[in-house]
Amino acid sequence: MSQRQLFVTTALPYANGNFHIGHIMEYIQADTWVRAQRMQGNAVNFVGADDAHGAPIMIAAEKAGKTPQQFVADIAAGRKQYLDGFHIAFDNWSNTDSPENHKLSQQIYRDLKAAGFIETRVIEQFFDPEKNMFLPDRFIKGECPRCHAKDQYGDNCEVCSSVYAPTDLINPFSALSGATPVLKSSEHFFFKLSDPRAVEFLTEWTQNGKHVQPEVAAKIKEWFGVRTNPDGSTSEGLDDWDISRDAPYFGIEIPDAPGKYFYVWLDAPVGYLASLKELLNQRGEDYDTYMANPDLEQYHFIGKDIITFHTLFWPAMLKFSGRKTPTKICVHGFMTVNNGEKMSKSRGTGLDPLKYLALKMNPEWLRYYLGAKLNGKNEDIDFNAEDFMLRVNADLIGKYVNIASRAAGFIAKRFDGKLGQVSEDGQALLAALREPHSAIVAAYEARDTARAAREIMALCDKVNSYVDANKPWELAKQEGMDARLQDVCSTCIEAFRLLTIYLKPMLPALAEQVEAFLKVEALQFADTGRLLGAGHAIGKYEHLMQRVVVEQLDALFEPPAAPVVEAVKPGGEEIAPTITIDDFAKIDLRIAKIVECKPVEGSTKLLQLTLDAGEGRMRNVFSGIASMYRPEQLQGKLTVLVANLAPRKMKFGISEGMVLAAGPGGEEIYLLSPDSGAKPGQRVK
Ligand code: MSP
Ligand code: ZN
Repeated sequence: MSQRQLFVTTALPYANGNFHIGHIMEYIQADTWVRAQRMQGNAVNFVGADDAHGAPIMIAAEKAGKTPQQFVADIAAGRKQYLDGFHIAFDNWSNTDSPENHKLSQQIYRDLKAAGFIETRVIEQFFDPEKNMFLPDRFIKGECPRCHAKDQYGDNCEVCSSVYAPTDLINPFSALSGATPVLKSSEHFFFKLSDPRAVEFLTEWTQNGKHVQPEVAAKIKEWFGVRTNPDGSTSEGLDDWDISRDAPYFGIEIPDAPGKYFYVWLDAPVGYLASLKELLNQRGEDYDTYMANPDLEQYHFIGKDIITFHTLFWPAMLKFSGRKTPTKICVHGFMTVNNGEKMSKSRGTGLDPLKYLALKMNPEWLRYYLGAKLNGKNEDIDFNAEDFMLRVNADLIGKYVNIASRAAGFIAKRFDGKLGQVSEDGQALLAALREPHSAIVAAYEARDTARAAREIMALCDKVNSYVDANKPWELAKQEGMDARLQDVCSTCIEAFRLLTIYLKPMLPALAEQVEAFLKVEALQFADTGRLLGAGHAIGKYEHLMQRVVVEQLDALFEPPAAPVVEAVKPGGEEIAPTITIDDFAKIDLRIAKIVECKPVEGSTKLLQLTLDAGEGRMRNVFSGIASMYRPEQLQGKLTVLVANLAPRKMKFGISEGMVLAAGPGGEEIYLLSPDSGAKPGQRVK
């Protein structure tokens, strides 16, 4: 079979927040698929990027006091720990503000224009007269025109769920400035999806059974039918798509249209191609040649909320700009946590991926658990703590990992680490394990990892029955049963290797440990066709995986104790740890008079002070305040002395205490002085 050429992406996450578990789920699904492809010898380029543009990010950056570029770069800097942490191996991670994406987006637009798919129209929109900008729907609020609920968004009401236009709101106001928005007209650019060519193409493309799952095709079909618009009118077919936004906007400029930018969803999917191009450039490969390959397959993994963009706008953009259209849009459902509770970033009811890692929970538990639940359909899945523990401990560890631990010890201790002959019953077992090879590979191909996991666990059951029937621990005690013991244990090790091959796309790190233990090269699917064979020496068995303990799950879902406040640093320094009044009383602070003040020869920092603290004797104190004070300025002044500080021997003499000053140093040192009336020797408390 010839090698397939695959270009694979996941949706590009908005660069205005960290990853949440929904993102991680999508990446694990795609990464597992990619690994399964590679294990078949197929060539894959797997890329992602941050979705940098749009009004919400521009506004969030402004609030944070950063440029949008800096804001996005700061978010990008946090990505690696998640991806590495969950063994998600993108070949490239870019962002949609890259030079490649600017160029490519503009070129696609030019091509669409040349093909007659771009039209301009003047439309009226709400404008914030204080912020001097057109307001996106999400930044207009007001009273719902239907149920009169206050403080509702510009596009729909969260109380009565009705959908309307922002102009329908009663007493609308700008969520940015509070100002009453005014209607202002502006020229917008439209992608003519209503063009019969687009309707014809998209009807065929979405309904021919090749590019989307059946349940997704059914949903799309509804969008082509008759529907009611917010203003009560009806339409059929597809609406033109507004692809422009007016300055100020963080995005890509529309060629030959000053002050106009592409709406973020125009350039975001182009980011898939731009990230690929960046990767190929880095490798010195030619992007155009790569894309021109008619056999190249293009796969996009996305969630169910962004189907329209990927099954209508994106294929149409590619088709009518003369480019290759996607092979498949792989849609997954949403992930919920602990019984369907909708995840909320702000309320912390979700599953925090970084907390998961910080608790030293094994990333491959999650990969396996999600794999065992995802079936390739557009269905929601729930993370359930008990179910998670059961599947990991009882299935993954109880059924699979234990096979190795039950056999490896005997091979090491009794047979010098060498496998022996596998007799007929063992061969039969191994044949049974090799039999579903194609079915398992096909399940991976269909993203039905749930089926793959079920098949594999059923095979584990077979192996465990074999172990229970042959009881190696009893054979080990019996006289003259050495050959049989080696036979049974070798069968187990061979079986374990086959199972590891099947599980490897879900458990890449575990598989790597197994490869080291078995002393084999990186396992591929085709390796099920052969066995290790008698005489093969395996390595030392080390425990492959810990069980999930309930305390970890409790800790994972424990709500944060108190809102996490970033440490405030008044004057550039955090407040020191709390002390008691007794601690403070240990410090004896006294009013002292600076009787004399002299420069210190050989030091630019120090002044030598002669202090009267009412003790009937003078004290000699060196103080690092020469950068701020000339000696004559201080002569005769009162200050505060730490009177019970242990004397310190310095290069220039003994310092008998310390005077108090504020400031970071250098040009900023301010000596403390008491209010007038204080007398030398008085204690400060
Ligand atoms: N920036 C757009 C995508 C542009 S693609 C050219 C976007 N970003 S997103 O950050 O909101 O979502 C990124 C992906 O995460 C989407 O595929 C989305 O469906 C997915 N998920 C977001 N929440 C999710 C869950 N709770 N569960 C599973 N996937 C989820 O949309
Ligand atoms: Zn309402």
